[in-house]
Parts: sequence; structure tokens; C-alpha cells
Amino acid sequence: MTDDNSSSGLDRRSFLVLGAAATGAVLVPAAPALAGRISRAEGDVFTLGVASGDPLPHSVILWTRLAPKPLELDGGMGTASATVEWEIATDEAFTQNRLSGSDEATATFGHSVHVDVKGLAPDTWYYFRFKHGSQLSPTGRTRTTPELGSTMSRLVVGQTSCANWQSGHYQLYADLADQEPDYWLALGDYIYEYSNKQYMRPAQTEPTRAIPWKTEPFTIGEYRRQYGLYRSDADLQKLHAVAPYSVIWDDHEVDNNFTAGKSGGDGQKDRIKFLARRAAGFQAFWENHAIRITQPKPKPKSMTIYRQIDWGTLATFLMLDGRQYRSDQPGNNTPNDFGKWVAAMASPKATMLGATQEKWLAQQLQDSTSKWTFIGQQTVFSSVNGSVGLGIPADGLYNYDSWDGYWKPRERLTAAIKSSQVRNPVILTGDFHCNLAFDVLESWPNPKDFPSMAECIKATLTWDRPKVAAELAAGAISSPTFFGEGGIVAAAGPPTLAKTPWAPYGELLNNGYVLHEITPESDRAQFRICQALKPVTTPEGTPRADKTVVIVDGVAGVSEVLDPA
Ligand SMILES: [Fe+2]
Repeated sequence: MTDDNSSSGLDRRSFLVLGAAATGAVLVPAAPALAGRISRAEGDVFTLGVASGDPLPHSVILWTRLAPKPLELDGGMGTASATVEWEIATDEAFTQNRLSGSDEATATFGHSVHVDVKGLAPDTWYYFRFKHGSQLSPTGRTRTTPELGSTMSRLVVGQTSCANWQSGHYQLYADLADQEPDYWLALGDYIYEYSNKQYMRPAQTEPTRAIPWKTEPFTIGEYRRQYGLYRSDADLQKLHAVAPYSVIWDDHEVDNNFTAGKSGGDGQKDRIKFLARRAAGFQAFWENHAIRITQPKPKPKSMTIYRQIDWGTLATFLMLDGRQYRSDQPGNNTPNDFGKWVAAMASPKATMLGATQEKWLAQQLQDSTSKWTFIGQQTVFSSVNGSVGLGIPADGLYNYDSWDGYWKPRERLTAAIKSSQVRNPVILTGDFHCNLAFDVLESWPNPKDFPSMAECIKATLTWDRPKVAAELAAGAISSPTFFGEGGIVAAAGPPTLAKTPWAPYGELLNNGYVLHEITPESDRAQFRICQALKPVTTPEGTPRADKTVVIVDGVAGVSEVLDPA
């Protein structure tokens, strides 16, 4: 999918090189340095690159963060504020339709810059960059959405999640940049909170890329340097420089499997201390993303990140927060995701989104007039009985951290989608580190409705209910796959979801992301995969097309699964 769909028709790859070469005072190499990290001139404040996000018809958020020493707690900037100039134009020489201004980057917010540029033309590509003193940032490219109510013939969207630093490379981010998307989604686990060697693949004794510290982040400075490390990657910076994105957090932006007010169990257990930690994680998330939300107070007690982004009448993206408001996982709040069915899974008191967000979502679904309505969220929505689907040798295993652990909230959202009669609902998912497509059904086999798990499993094999929506789960950018490389079911043979009737596609051994080509007629979702543990110079580590899942306008669920061309 490399057709040039940009309005300017410029070759984006040559633009990137030109943009880097044109930066003047500071030499910014276009080529990645060792281990994927960009090395820049001494004292360069733009080590983390630039990004843009949450576009509107006349506005987009431009982002950078000054950090001459990104691996230090203060980024090397000390306590003084710094003035940062910005400019945006429709040509790379910054002469046409140019807008400019300046902003103060403060130590309070980690010397981050969030510019909400107004007065842009709709459905238009732009170039942007920042200046501090004599230093120019790399040039980024971004675009606005079409005017509200206007049509759009084609939109290319990347869907990513789960980019653990120490278990792989970021060639899939670079591959997405090469596909020249209009827009992309980061559905959580953009960073992981883990320290060195804490989260690797089963086969690894040494991390692919080391983390230079031995503790998880707890303070704002520690979260900032975690982002400083992750955002120093050349492939990630390349992606951020080609298209705007929208981001939501999952658990690892703060702590594994956290829920409303509680650690996931392998970090802090004390509620008060955890809220202080969460505040640091939330603040650092805002500081390090081009996100269109209200600037938080320092140490925010909460942050509202769920929001809507429209691309004319073609596509609406409803971006959810499935972490901050959720009730605890059933199964004794286990730090392990998987466990046997427990009655608490069906608790009517459970919530995934919290009452306010749940109501907001139902209303947006009701109000959406777009051809496609995408629900961007964290954990797998469709039911996966591990005994049936994955051959896990146990009796009815479910992932408590996903919507299977929140059966009633899932029933409510399914009912809301159905009653809204929204056209072409598609759920977009991260978290699970597998490449998957599902038909979202009106209901799934609920263990509490069967006399035994054996009966439930038997019913699952032939389960057939009306389809309400489609769900596409992106594989991880670089995090361990659950089933490859000596993962949890390697001994049970090649994993498959073939026995799960509502899962028409599953690729469980590779890293991956989803590349959507959205038109009024269809969403053609190409799953692009590789083994990110291997470098891009190897055949296994080279991104390639796997299957394309086709969702057709007016037809609920998945219509077709195509082999790679
Ligand atoms: Fe993850």
C-alpha cells in the first residue's frame, strides 16, 4: 500500500532526508545510530524528535520536548524555562501558508511543548518544525482532517500497540512510516514501566536493547527518562515525522494490570502511594504525547483521555480509557492475566469504562453519522476461551484483564452498539500481542450458563450468533508474543484460534500491526508482521504482509480474509 495518496504528491521519504539535512545549526543525522537510538550533536535539545496528533479540520497539536540529555531525570534542561518557536507551512521551505509563534517550555512539565495550531486549511498536508536559540528541530509532516460533514474517498490508518524496548526492535514502526499513512493509532503500552531484564522473551537471557537503570519508574523524573529512552528510537521518530497520531494509554504507561486506584500487584500495593505513582505516570504521558486534552495540573489525580476524532463523514474514531476507571480484575486480582473461570467474571458490579465514559460512549455511538465508526481501545473485547481457542491444557482459561473478565460491561457495550444502529462499527484493540480478527457476536458462551466447563467448551465449538461488529487486534510492535519463542503454549503445538468459530483470522507467532485502507466501500485491514526480536537485516525480522481482513460497508463482522498478494 505505497500509492501516493498525499495532497501534495511529494515523496515523503526524500522529504525526511531533506528535512534532516535542512536543519542548519545542528547536524541531525538521518540514519539511525547503534541499537536504534539516534545520536545527535552535543547539546542538541531536540533529541526526542517531533510529533503531531489529534488533528481537526483547522488545527493539529504539534509536539516536542526539549531534552539534551533524555536519559537524565530532568532531560538535561535544569529548572529554567525555555522559549521555543514553532512554524508550520504547506511547503518544506516554509514559505507558503506559513503560520508561526512561540511557546514557553517549563520545567514543571518536563520542557514539553504542545502547540494547538489554529487557522489551518482542512484536508491539507503541512510541514512543521521548532526552533530553540540557534537550534532547529527535525521537520515533521502532518495533516488536517476534512471539514466536518465533507466526504473523503480514502484514508490509510496504522494501528499499533505494545512496544517493549528490551524484547525487540522497532522495524514495524519504520515499516508503517514507509506505508505513508494519513494517520495512526497507538493503542497503549507505548512504553513499558519495566527496568532492565524485567520483561524479555522466554528465550532471551539478555535484552535486545538494555535499559540503563535497574528500577521501575515511580517519580515524574523516572517516567520522563523512560519516555526519553523509548522516544530516542530512530524508527519511532521516523513514524512520528510522517503523520499525525492519536494515543491512549494501557497499563504499562503506569504499572502492569493497574485498575482504578490500584497497582496490578507486582509494583506498589499501597493505594495512596500508588495514586502518587499513577499521577507521575499520567503527567509524563501528557508531557510526552501530542494529545488534545486539557493540560493537567502537576501530579494529576485523574486525567480524561477518552475522546473522538472525525475524518469527515468517512470515519469516526472513539478513543477509550479502559484502565483508569475499571474495577479490579476477578480472580483475586492476580498479577497473571490468565485464570480459570470464576463467578466474579459475571459480576454486575464490574465496570471497564466507568459510568461516565460508558454513557459518553453510548451517546457518541448513537450520534455518529460516519460511514465507519472505530472504537479504539486496549484489551481484547471478543471472548477467548483459552482451552478451546489456544489449546491451553487447562479447563476453561480466560484472560481476566480483558473484557472476558468484565462480562456484564461487555454485554452493555454490545447492546449499546446494537441499539445505536451505528453504521459499520469496528473495535480496534491492542494489549494481546497477537494478530487477530473477530466477529463480535450478540453473545458468547458464558460458563455460568452451562452445567460444566466441558459443556461450555462443547457449545463453543459450534457457537453461532448474529454479528454486531468486527474486532481487529494488532500484534505487538516489539513485545514478546505469547505463543512464539518458547511462549506459554509452545509445548502444545502450533497455536491456533481455528476452533473458535468467531475468530476468522489469527497469527500468533509474530509481532505486527494493522494497516487499514478505509474507503466508503470497505475497510481492508492488512496485518503486517515480522519477528521483531530479529533485526530488520534478517529475513525473519523483515516486515511483510500477512493476510488482509476485509470488512464490507453494511455487513457486520468480517466478510473475507485474503492471502497476501
Ligand atoms: Fe502490551
